[in-house]
Amino acid sequence: MHNDIGSIVLTEEQIEAACARLGKQLTEDYNGKLPLCVGILKGSVLFMTDLIKHIDTHVEIDFMDVSSYHGGTESTGEVKILKDLGTSVEDRDVIIIEDILETGTTLNSIIDLLKYRKANSIEIVTLLDKPSRRKVDIEAKYVGEKIPDDFVVGYGLDYQEKYRNLPYIGLLKEEVYMK
Ligand code: PRP
Ligand code: MN
Ligand code: MG
Repeated sequence: MHNDIGSIVLTEEQIEAACARLGKQLTEDYNGKLPLCVGILKGSVLFMTDLIKHIDTHVEIDFMDVSSYHGGTESTGEVKILKDLGTSVEDRDVIIIEDILETGTTLNSIIDLLKYRKANSIEIVTLLDKPSRRKVDIEAKYVGEKIPDDFVVGYGLDYQEKYRNLPYIGLLKEEVYMK
């Protein structure tokens, strides 16, 4: 375990089991539909690569990067597109892949945009869900694990851009972010 990590929230084995379970559900639900899997950069990258290995039907993949405008500590709910899709979503069945769903403001804006672009269907798969942080009415159909409002890093999730490469999800020691 990395020295900055106080405890593990999801082990590599638990993550793998979640990917297998969610991949199986997606295989059943999207069999024959050729969905477009949209990974939201950068947090979703590790989860997306492991998850899609468990989807046993044809899929396409693409990526989007967005950033929230932060006017102080509260998000304004507006997002700026830093990298857009290269694929048209019109009439497509879109599966948005996220590492974590918290306030929901990021996904809410992305979903509005995909609806405006006439996606046929939009569902969310997220490895982690923090329902206690929600500010907008949005739920993921496919959830790996619901977690309390603790600051987690690893497996794509960062603190100041670090720890994304950890193969597990853990709690950062308080002394690390008090520094
Ligand atoms: C994080 C996380 C989600 C989003 C969740 O991304 O990966 O995309 O925040 O928060 P919300 O539900 O409150 O909108 P971040 O903006 O930190 O970018 P990153 O993925 O590049 O770390
Ligand atoms: Mn993200
Ligand atoms: Mg981040």
